Amino acid sequence: MTKKMTTKVTIEAVIFDLDGVVVYTDEYHSRGWRRLCDDQGWRFPEEVSDQLRGVSRMESLQIILDSNGVSATGEEKEEMAHRKNEYYKTYLQEVDESALVPGAVDCIRELRRRGVLIGLGSASKNALTVLRGLGIEELFDQAVTGLDITRSKPDPQVFTLGGQRLGVSPERCAVFEDAVSGVEAANAAGMISVGFGPTQGLDQAGADLLVPDYAWLDIDAFLAGTLWS
Ligand code: G6P
Ligand code: MG
Repeated sequence: MTKKMTTKVTIEAVIFDLDGVVVYTDEYHSRGWRRLCDDQGWRFPEEVSDQLRGVSRMESLQIILDSNGVSATGEEKEEMAHRKNEYYKTYLQEVDESALVPGAVDCIRELRRRGVLIGLGSASKNALTVLRGLGIEELFDQAVTGLDITRSKPDPQVFTLGGQRLGVSPERCAVFEDAVSGVEAANAAGMISVGFGPTQGLDQAGADLLVPDYAWLDIDAFLAGTLWS
């Protein structure tokens, strides 16, 4: 049991990761990397795909290079990261409401109705494009994206900055994350970490609460702190 679970918490803000928590764009990121790997004749196993959750574009490429035992020059890396992003942006054109994680928008609306502030905390430089494309940008009081940060999850920067912009102290912020690196980042920020979805290892990463899906989540119990008492 973590120290957060032993004390009563008041949640004033919830910061959502984007890919895999609000929208299933995590699958489009994977498709983009898989296509790049196919181009290059490299392997892209499922466990490597999971390791890329929450990780910046260049760091993701490095993980793929390392897992294939391949090295590349800075220029080659720039080109490959750019190529993957072009693939990803092509896939984004297909994204519509069917790509929303079921219950995510309702959950955010319910939280807002109860006066909870909503933030976005994503490592993606494409995050605002995704929100705008789906017409859900206005659900977020503040958004911190890959364009605002210099350090990737598990560094807490994305969430610390989000809490500051929302004007809420860390212990009153909860973070919804599908990535091991994201749960670690939320914990490092001193926030309540909610491990969302089926990713392996969220428990071991120290998630304060595991939420398999939004249908499972009782929002009143969550805000009252009784889900982890
Ligand atoms: C999120 C995703 C990662 C992605 C990263 C950067 O954290 O979970 O899979 O690599 O954003 O995304 P970008 O759109 O900037 O390449
Ligand atoms: Mg994610």
